[in-house]
Amino acid sequence: MEGELLEGRRILLIIAGGIAAYKSLELIRRLRERGAAVRCVMTEAARQFVTPLSVSSLSEDKVYGDLWSLTDESEMGHIRLSREADLLVVAPATADLIARMAMGLADDLAATTLLASDKPVLIAPAMNAMMWAHPATQANLATLAARGVMRVGPGSGDLACGEVGFGRMAEPADILAAIVRALAPDRRLAGRRALVTSGPTREPIDPVRYLSNHSSGKQGHAIAAALAALGAETVLVSGPTQEPTPAGVRLVAVETARQMLEASEAALPVDVAVMAAAVSDWRVDTAAGQKLKKDGKGPPSLRLVENPDILASIAGRHNDRPLLVIGFAAETENVVANARAKRKRKGCDWILANDVSPGTGTFGGDRNTIHMVDGDLVEDWPVMSKIEVAARLADRIAEVLQSGNLAPHR
Ligand code: CTP
Repeated sequence: MEGELLEGRRILLIIAGGIAAYKSLELIRRLRERGAAVRCVMTEAARQFVTPLSVSSLSEDKVYGDLWSLTDESEMGHIRLSREADLLVVAPATADLIARMAMGLADDLAATTLLASDKPVLIAPAMNAMMWAHPATQANLATLAARGVMRVGPGSGDLACGEVGFGRMAEPADILAAIVRALAPDRRLAGRRALVTSGPTREPIDPVRYLSNHSSGKQGHAIAAALAALGAETVLVSGPTQEPTPAGVRLVAVETARQMLEASEAALPVDVAVMAAAVSDWRVDTAAGQKLKKDGKGPPSLRLVENPDILASIAGRHNDRPLLVIGFAAETENVVANARAKRKRKGCDWILANDVSPGTGTFGGDRNTIHMVDGDLVEDWPVMSKIEVAARLADRIAEVLQSGNLAPHR
């Protein structure tokens, strides 16, 4: 799935002169792994930080840099550099290059290519915190944003200059995610935010034992991938799973139900929340601090207490309730009737009910049979793969959010 998202896509990566340029090497590798073709332009200053040889080895292409190179211009030309790309990515985007972009300068190959392009542009700024905060930089960023230039990062943290603050270039995984979003062919959810929970939770008994369930995280992860593929900025709050983090998705890894609730609340506000996690209904009241030992007095008894209901909490929010809150219902009998009651009880908009009886192979399997409950309507979906379920659900979400046809919260 991840590979497919960038297979055959052409990225023109413009590397400006900042210490973060080393992270661009990793970005090239990740883009290539996902099937993208990467062509690189380096500014003069960038060559002080990483070598053109490293860049060219990773991109398996020559590196462009000189506006006045007769061979480069006769072979390719700055106009073709942009024409033959689906997306221009500037990483690191230094304060200097951002300023030149904002002014429309064309004083080197990087700036000229950007000026001579009508392709979408994504910048990953990287600079010292003072430079970032400077009104000149902020004004330049506002100018670029108004022109539709997309941005990822920067983050805050330790900076190479020894200061701490804003200006750290986004990590390669986050830039990759932003690239996937920028290139999504169907971007009906662009500008929307989504929250998805996935996987099981683990409730500790002692430092080595826990209560959990068989959820694989396949369905939740596929939904996060499908929402991100439509351009939604997606946060995936997941318990422990073997599933790879889908491209274009920000993962928040958690273990317990309480951590899952906290991370889900921290992701608000969002337009849509899909709660696909198999949350443990109970936890051990007080987990032992040390490993429980066989002490000859028989097995310990575990006192269980109820976990918070994440779906109901999110659906019950007052000021920042998502426009759409969607839950799942894992049932082993009276699937639709139970799901209807569950939807009302939890206050969510839709429930996707599935039969998880042992014979169905739903838990941990690749297929799912869904009955979608929306108010009094029930729609039976044919048996399909979890990836198809995710695509169908994401399509529904996009349709409803676009039409603005949202039922009043029930
Ligand atoms: N859910 C949740 N938090 C919980 C329990 C469940 O967010 N503590 C969510 C699940 O992610 C799912 C929905 O609620 O979207 C229904 O989960 P399910 O296990 O079917 O329902 P339960 O609330 O556990 O009800 P019961 O066990 O009685 O069927």
